[in-house]
Amino acid sequence: YGDASQKVDYVFKVVLIGDSAVGKSQILARFARDEFSLDSKATIGVEFQTRTLVIQHKSVKAQIWDTAGQERYRAVTSAYYRGAVGALLVYDITKRQTFEHIPRWLEELRGHADKNIVIMLVGNKIDLEEQRAVATEDAKEFAEKEGLFFLETSALESTNVETAFNTVLNEIF
Ligand code: GTP
Ligand code: MG
Repeated sequence: YGDASQKVDYVFKVVLIGDSAVGKSQILARFARDEFSLDSKATIGVEFQTRTLVIQHKSVKAQIWDTAGQERYRAVTSAYYRGAVGALLVYDITKRQTFEHIPRWLEELRGHADKNIVIMLVGNKIDLEEQRAVATEDAKEFAEKEGLFFLETSALESTNVETAFNTVLNEIF
């Protein structure tokens, strides 16, 4: 009955959140299409992309939602989080402020999402190591305290993007 490769066993919704320009849309472009753009435009409203992977012999469709970090471009919050089973909470390792805003994003996430949601804290842009403004240890400590997974990524160099999503999706599974 039909093509086995088309069969989807599970659909998992994962949301991307964090300040504007931390690289959420490019992390998604890297994961969904293996693409990257340096002149990425600020997201307006909500966009999503999907990628189907195999986890433990089951076909899992990851539906990744991406919204604007800028308040004025954000869509209705409750609709964005509804049904999400995973979240990537992203900051830019070269912009201290984007890390300092993480507790606020976490509060919003915990206020709207399912309490069992799997959360990964992501420090993006590690290709810009010479401009680092957030120590790995500080982020690791925060993640441990809050019970989050933690990874540092580069959407530009494709470092750990795959691992970040795979860790979350495997944990959901
Ligand atoms: P909003 O949509 O406004 O919330 O921003 P965003 O978080 O989606 O940021 P976006 O992905 O549009 O990236 C912002 C800028 O950072 C763009 O110029 C990207 O090319 C750049 N960028 C994203 N990821 C990386 C990275 O890993 N390394 C470097 N050097 N630049 C990156
Ligand atoms: Mg964006």
